[in-house]
Amino acid sequence: MNHAIRFPTNFIWGAATAAYQIEGAWNEDGKGESIWDRFVRRPGAIADGSTGDVACDHYHRYEEDLEHMAAMGLKAYRFSIAWPRIFPDGTGQPNQRGLDFYRRLIDGLHRRRILPVATLYHWDLPQAIEDRGGWINRDTAFYFAEYADYLFRQIGGDVALWATHNEPFIQAFYGYGNGENAPGKRVPWRVLHVVHHLLLSHGLAVSAFRATKPQPVRADLPSPQIGIVLMIWPQYPASDHPADLKAAQRIDGAMNRLFLEPLFRRRYPADLVAHFARRLIFAPVKPGDMEIIGQPIDFLGINTYTRLFNAVNWREPFLMTKQVPGPLPKTAMGWEIYPDCIVEALQKAREYTSLPLYITENGAAFDDPPPGPNDQIVEDPDRVAYLRSHIAACHRALTAGIDLRGYFVWTLMDNFEWAKGLSKRFGIIYTDYATQRRVWKRSAHVYRDIIARNGL
Ligand code: NOJ
Repeated sequence: MNHAIRFPTNFIWGAATAAYQIEGAWNEDGKGESIWDRFVRRPGAIADGSTGDVACDHYHRYEEDLEHMAAMGLKAYRFSIAWPRIFPDGTGQPNQRGLDFYRRLIDGLHRRRILPVATLYHWDLPQAIEDRGGWINRDTAFYFAEYADYLFRQIGGDVALWATHNEPFIQAFYGYGNGENAPGKRVPWRVLHVVHHLLLSHGLAVSAFRATKPQPVRADLPSPQIGIVLMIWPQYPASDHPADLKAAQRIDGAMNRLFLEPLFRRRYPADLVAHFARRLIFAPVKPGDMEIIGQPIDFLGINTYTRLFNAVNWREPFLMTKQVPGPLPKTAMGWEIYPDCIVEALQKAREYTSLPLYITENGAAFDDPPPGPNDQIVEDPDRVAYLRSHIAACHRALTAGIDLRGYFVWTLMDNFEWAKGLSKRFGIIYTDYATQRRVWKRSAHVYRDIIARNGL
């Protein structure tokens, strides 16, 4: 074939999910309540009124889901661990049955030679900890470190890549800033507290990981590594008006640099700090914190889906910015389809670190046609085009010399898309929520072929 695009041998092709979005079984086997279990019951919080109580029922159907992963030829599977399954009260007594679920899942991955990639925190804080102030409270960072330490001791060597957090930006700015995500607090003047405590908890977990030194439990597993997953979306100004340029810089500051700078330069970005200080918003940094936060990690995961165009918004006092639609076609989320987001996000990370990079999430929601009872496939040409063009962009990044080690499609199967509920479908497998039947979309077949030939 002409112009074949081949990836390096050992390039890691994966798919990603998160506990609350797929597991269901929200109150089974001793699991404690999470902030999402609470939040979804708030009238109007979820666009379609759905919850993650059942979601994809993955907690009971993980064996079937593992079979789908194996049939697709996945090299790695990125999932998250629900903190309240492990510590129902957030701290104190661990819950053996919760841990056993992840042991079964991980064993199933090992048996199929799929590398486990685990995220410790994908936004489902134990409600008991939220009741003590959640991420606004510095103690939460230390509870998180206990939870992380426990997992590193129990299953540290079973997992190839450990990520402490997933998109701390969203947890902070949506969970505690605008209240669109759990715990649904609208306290923007506390957002830097949340950011700082999330980052501190990351650093404390890295310290725990270095202290426990988990060793691979099988000869075919690599030495476990630890890192973090950040959202990095390229930011553009809506016009060349200086106020719009500054708006784009602020959003780049809040979404991207607010995390990259402390992790890799041990400081918060000066322009954003000044912007917040004028609003009397300060990060509660104590001596030694930045050293804990900025200690070396092994890899950086990047979630990127699109770029944003930003304009100044004089009516919004906090970040003083609004997003305006870009010129290109959009996904069902209204996100512009812009494959170079991959290259630009990777380049942005490269300004801060030469660590191995992973695209830990990339994918698209489209309004897929529901399959009839006898249909064996769902045609999703837009998602196929999206995945191919974004995977091609990964290859351009590699050609430009970026040390990209893997790509994880978001997501394995349609699932609970947070405040959008079950209405937005990102899966390469269709989930029929009425029957829990999984039906491969065309994109799953295409992805399987990409993996099989290690390229496009
Ligand atoms: C990033 C989040 O990590 C994930 O949970 C979410 O479903 C996707 N973006 C799509 O919005």
